[in-house]
Amino acid sequence: MPKITNNPNLCSIRVAGTGSYVPDKVLTNDDLAKIVDTSDEWIRSRTGIQERRIASDAQATSDLATEAAKRAMEQAGVTAEEIDLIIVATISPDTFFPSTACYVQRNLAAKNAVCFDISAACSGFLYAMSVARQFISTHTCDTALIIGAEKLSSMVNWEDRNTCVLFGDGAGAAVLKRAELDGEQGVLSAYMGSDGNQTDILVVPGGGSACPITPDNAEQRLNTISMQGKEVYRYAVTAMRRACDRVLQRANLKPEDISMVIPHQANFRIIEAIRERLDVPPEKMFINLQKYGNTSAAAIAIALDEAHRSGAIQRGDKIVLVAFGAGLTWAAAAICW
Ligand code: UT7
Repeated sequence: MPKITNNPNLCSIRVAGTGSYVPDKVLTNDDLAKIVDTSDEWIRSRTGIQERRIASDAQATSDLATEAAKRAMEQAGVTAEEIDLIIVATISPDTFFPSTACYVQRNLAAKNAVCFDISAACSGFLYAMSVARQFISTHTCDTALIIGAEKLSSMVNWEDRNTCVLFGDGAGAAVLKRAELDGEQGVLSAYMGSDGNQTDILVVPGGGSACPITPDNAEQRLNTISMQGKEVYRYAVTAMRRACDRVLQRANLKPEDISMVIPHQANFRIIEAIRERLDVPPEKMFINLQKYGNTSAAAIAIALDEAHRSGAIQRGDKIVLVAFGAGLTWAAAAICW
């Protein structure tokens, strides 16, 4: 059952800066129709996705993460040496170990940071936000860099039309600091949940200790994403609706107080279902999945940066972030921007 992580005794954290990075290479729906039996019409109508970005062979997840981090740090006005915590949320790490966060630390020369990864799939960026909130609130650190970064193109079976049309590469980052201006600013409430009974419906089954890739099973592509789309869809709608309700309740907010909802960017039909539940107008749902597809842990981080830089969210706005992913995992946060 879901674990509630909002602790009223925690002081709040504020987002001091955001940044994002997507690779240059664009893969359109028409491009995909040349390699699997699909069409632009099917992908648009079922998901809302029009194109996605694909990293080059030379780019690892940490490279995408590093670019996003530099942009967030520049906006926040913090130096690499001021960062004392780096959390990378990813399911496509550079290597099983060391953590992708350690590669980012090296790239940034952030020598004072403690670094680790979080594996919570599409909910990872919000899990990272909650973890950083605890660290900052307890004065374990002052300046945290949280990043959602994925090179999902390296884990996709490009012969499976059920999955290969959905995913893309990219990274988003945020610099978090203690909110000192007033009690209203920063993260107002947070909520996380997991359900380990549904590990099978969205999984990369091979390549780990449970099922190492061998010469005998290599042909089965077990080290690529496998998903029961309809099942995941059903859980996603229910879990994200509930997560929105919980963070609003805990922050003492009503849906009409919300200026913008930034949902996980997997499927516009799922986003529409959440919008109906919240009863907010379409312009209050931030959507960019048409450009990037589902970038898992990076999706909300990229959307947050785009919403911020485009002026779609302004200082003082109350916003809700909500995510859902493999595990199953889900999470939400209410923030006074
Ligand atoms: O980020 C983590 C969370 N992930 C999600 O939230 C994803 C949740 N799931 C979804 O978004 C949707 O379930 C999908 C977009 C993955 C699929 O949409 P759907 O409406 O559930 O379609 P479906 O899986 O029921 O497939 C409908 C039909 C099937 O054909 P038949 O059996 O009806 O003849 C599929 O074989 O569409 C077929 N199909 C495709 N056709 C053209 C599946 N993929 C494709 C494709 N192009 N790419």
